[in-house]
Amino acid sequence: MKMLYEGKSKIVYAGEEDGTCIIKYKDTATAGNGAKKEDLPGKGRLNAEISNLIFDYLAKNGVKTHLIKVIDDTAVLAKSAEIVMVEVVVRNVAAGGFSAKYGVPEGTPLKNTVVEFSYKSDELGDPMINDSQITALGISTKEELETLKSMALRIDELMTELFKKAGIRLIDFKLEFGRADGEIILCDEISPDSCRLWDAQTDKKMDKDRFRRDLGNVLDGYRDVLARLKSVLN
Ligand code: TMP
Repeated sequence: MKMLYEGKSKIVYAGEEDGTCIIKYKDTATAGNGAKKEDLPGKGRLNAEISNLIFDYLAKNGVKTHLIKVIDDTAVLAKSAEIVMVEVVVRNVAAGGFSAKYGVPEGTPLKNTVVEFSYKSDELGDPMINDSQITALGISTKEELETLKSMALRIDELMTELFKKAGIRLIDFKLEFGRADGEIILCDEISPDSCRLWDAQTDKKMDKDRFRRDLGNVLDGYRDVLARLKSVLN
């Protein structure tokens, strides 16, 4: 297979058919833009299965995604897309970067859902960027940003409902989108690497903050998320 791109946690290969690619999940965990890095055997398989379940659920609820089919336990066939160079973060509860930046304790409820953009650039450390900066730099258009925001908010509603059934609070998460066949589709992954997920009873962290903050038992949280999602989706 021809490798097109190797990222921090996934490798992208060209697909056999035009307009497709194969995405393989790795076991590598990174934090702080790659400053902290470790191999967590089994993480790739867990994230692939969790993300596939969520993408499938979103697709059944009308969200267009890149996922075509699951190939094996760490690889999927996806539509090729031109990635929109912004990460879209949705926040329901204050935590992480938001708490640090604005001096609000983690766990503080927010009066409205927050949607934030970051410019996808490893060299610049993915700086936050606003709508007028994005359009000024030609990264995206006003219309496209409206589509990203409305898709992100719809995905938030659907995921909040799904995780609630699983006894999990969806605190915040990051999405990536791409352009394919003239429309915007959800790309990348949705997993405990890209979401903050707290147990609804105890607020125990079940996501990558366990790795970022050296809390231990990182993959136990991921396994628990997968088991609970399976129990509410089947
Ligand atoms: P933040 O609080 O660090 O800005 O993160 C918000 C959410 O986005 C959190 O669920 C983790 C996720 N995220 C990523 O998936 N990748 C990233 O590079 C960053 C900065 C955050």
